[in-house]
Amino acid sequence: MSNVRTTGGPSLFSLAIPILAGALAFLQPQPLFNAVGKVNVNPGKVTRWVNSSAVNNERCTVHYEGDACEDVKIHFASNTAFVACGNPEERTKWYPASGRYDAASREEASFKEYLLKYDIKRRETTKLKVHGLDGDFITHGIDIYSFPDDPTKIHIFAVNHARSGDSISIFSHTLGSDNVVLVKDVKHAGIYNANGVAATGPLNFYTTNDHYFTAKDGIFRRFEDSYGPWTWATNVQHCDASGPKVTCRRVSDTHPGANGILISDDELYVGDCRTGDARVYEIQPDHSLINTATIHLGAAADNINIIPTTRDVVVTGYRRLTGPS
Ligand SMILES: *[C@@H]1O[C@H](CO)[C@@H](O)[C@H](O)[C@H]1NC(C)=O
Repeated sequence: MSNVRTTGGPSLFSLAIPILAGALAFLQPQPLFNAVGKVNVNPGKVTRWVNSSAVNNERCTVHYEGDACEDVKIHFASNTAFVACGNPEERTKWYPASGRYDAASREEASFKEYLLKYDIKRRETTKLKVHGLDGDFITHGIDIYSFPDDPTKIHIFAVNHARSGDSISIFSHTLGSDNVVLVKDVKHAGIYNANGVAATGPLNFYTTNDHYFTAKDGIFRRFEDSYGPWTWATNVQHCDASGPKVTCRRVSDTHPGANGILISDDELYVGDCRTGDARVYEIQPDHSLINTATIHLGAAADNINIIPTTRDVVVTGYRRLTGPS
């Protein structure tokens, strides 16, 4: 599918869709579902660990300083974790990634969510002051970019589900400080249901779209929420925001549920929350991707991280079909 999507207002289709939806709900016609690319996920593929219990977690502790924290990236040189958090109650009203589109009933002040930094050695959590971002800040995936020639600063890339549409907000952060300063709020037609982000340069990145239709597509999105997932619905984009004009292009195959994303050397890992797979892509010099492997995880895959000393890949997976726990 094209990476630039139609976003016009309602049309004749908006009448046809509920009728079609009713018919589909009633008839459940498998051949039609197959024809439109409906993913038939064998539940066993995503519940392999449903009966397993916790292991190796003796040294884990729970921190309550942040809530609804969706993603974490560690800057190892400074022993600092950067965490994107939010407001779990208000997200039940507006959080398009979870099918919550009622922006009007979400409390106005809660449209400013937050980033934390956590000093791993001192065990200290600090809320970062955001400068330069006037609009909403509704967080999801994040990544950090380290400058090879300047060890004092990083860029933090944050998915932002603003009411005005999704963007990747790129902030500058001086290590040791308590501030982030907006460098660029990157918007493009290719960034429409952003989930994960992985930096490839100070102003370049990969991002996943986790649905096809957006909150603004109204009934179409509800149709997708009810009758998806579809094999062609999600993808990985590469965006370059270093010039005055932002460019994005789709660089992956389509996926049923592209979600968390991670760059490790010349490879890109993409977790799929529908199929329970992680896809491995080899990154080409022009940022296009070649799928070299698919790892069957046995659980819906969310965020991905890597332990730099062992090169072990850590994937967040949901044991049950119904989500976390
Ligand atoms: C989990 O346990 C139940 C009950 O013992 C069993 O029926 C099921 O097959 C188990 N599932 C897996 C994936 O091991």
